[in-house]
Amino acid sequence: MLTDEEREEIEAEATHYAVRQAAQIDAMKIVQKHRGWVSDEALGDISELLGVPVTELDAVATFYNLIFRKPVGRHVIYLCDSVSCWIMGSAEQFAHCRARLGAAPGETTADGRFTLLPIVCLGACDHAPVMMVDDDLHTELEPAKIDRILEGYQ
Ligand code: FES
Repeated sequence: MLTDEEREEIEAEATHYAVRQAAQIDAMKIVQKHRGWVSDEALGDISELLGVPVTELDAVATFYNLIFRKPVGRHVIYLCDSVSCWIMGSAEQFAHCRARLGAAPGETTADGRFTLLPIVCLGACDHAPVMMVDDDLHTELEPAKIDRILEGYQ
């Protein structure tokens, strides 16, 4: 069941659109902000609130890779795997993250601290290779720099 706070925030977002169904991504992001991810139950609640079929919500959530349909760690590492970052050595950064974290892309560390995810171009190709941790962009990566960056996220 959606909390009163979630429901109020979703209703407020829905007022910004001509049709309330258009607030579906906002609604999922609101739930994710509060819970860390969007469960099947939450999708059902959003469906009821906005009048959007669950299958449509699930399709949008699956397409939009910043909506998590299963639990993630306290911090999410989005490591770019698009062409400019690949040319500049993203494979080495992936290998380093995997070894350091003990988690492959798509997995969460055993302590629940990080989830490692590949992501398409983050729009900072001139500073490749690039990753985001939560909402923070980090550029010109190399293994020692990644280690320093990750130390800052508990
Ligand atoms: Fe990685 Fe553009 S290809 S930021």
